[in-house]
Amino acid sequence: MIQLQDVSYVRLGTRDLEGAEFFARDYLGLEVSDRSKGAVYFKSDERAHTLCYFEGDPADQAVAFVIGSEAELEQAAASLEEMNHQVHLGTAEEAAIRKVKAFIRFRDPTGNTIELVVRPENSGRRYHGTRDAGITGFSHVGLCTTDAARDERFWTRVCNARVSDRIGDAPLLRIDEVHHTIALFPTNRAGIQHVNHQVKSADDVQRSFNYLSEKGVKMVFGPGRHVTSMAKFLYFEGPDGMVFEYSSGVESIADELLYRERQFPADPTGFCGWGSKPDIAEFK
Ligand SMILES: [Fe+2]
Repeated sequence: MIQLQDVSYVRLGTRDLEGAEFFARDYLGLEVSDRSKGAVYFKSDERAHTLCYFEGDPADQAVAFVIGSEAELEQAAASLEEMNHQVHLGTAEEAAIRKVKAFIRFRDPTGNTIELVVRPENSGRRYHGTRDAGITGFSHVGLCTTDAARDERFWTRVCNARVSDRIGDAPLLRIDEVHHTIALFPTNRAGIQHVNHQVKSADDVQRSFNYLSEKGVKMVFGPGRHVTSMAKFLYFEGPDGMVFEYSSGVESIADELLYRERQFPADPTGFCGWGSKPDIAEFK
């Protein structure tokens, strides 16, 4: 079984790198941590980077997960190939671009690009955003799925994810004590469905709602409170239609043995306890 330890970073292609940098830095509140030709790196916590925008096709998106060792990486590549997934072994140059020791790339059954990385670089410097968004770190991704049951099997049987809750057929999956690190949302395409950063408090969620609304950023859901993870949340649209989320107060599942996954309805009440309604296709 592939033991995912944590989510590591997201890589997003864009045809407007300057615009994407402006959004990520001045609106989302991330810190530019590095630049290379055609790419800008952003940090949101103790890691060297958790988001990279690069010049390219906006459909070119990848999410990375940390695994424990190069031996585990080799095993993961072998077992994925056995299941007929095409596996790309990252070159030294590609690994350097990602600030990791080694990595492999493959596609999940829907076609989402997944990277498994070993020894991602930490930063010796604290994160401090250019605006006071209250970000405490990159925390989870929503992924598109064209078959939720099939992809749930992939993430829970081939990898170590466990179902925390389901909203309709959409599973919220954990790989550690955090309620969810991956969420699969049924739709007809592949891609990253949303990118989540945690913020310190509900005040930060509300503050960003006002700040970003004033700047004309398109709000797509919230402020609200998830009835699954109990997190207070806000979703808004960034470059190339990517949905970003801030949330605060996500539940921890301390005792795996006592926890039972729960079923919530696939309507606004399954997403929000405050009555907010999503303007997000995959949440409808
Ligand atoms: Fe989320």
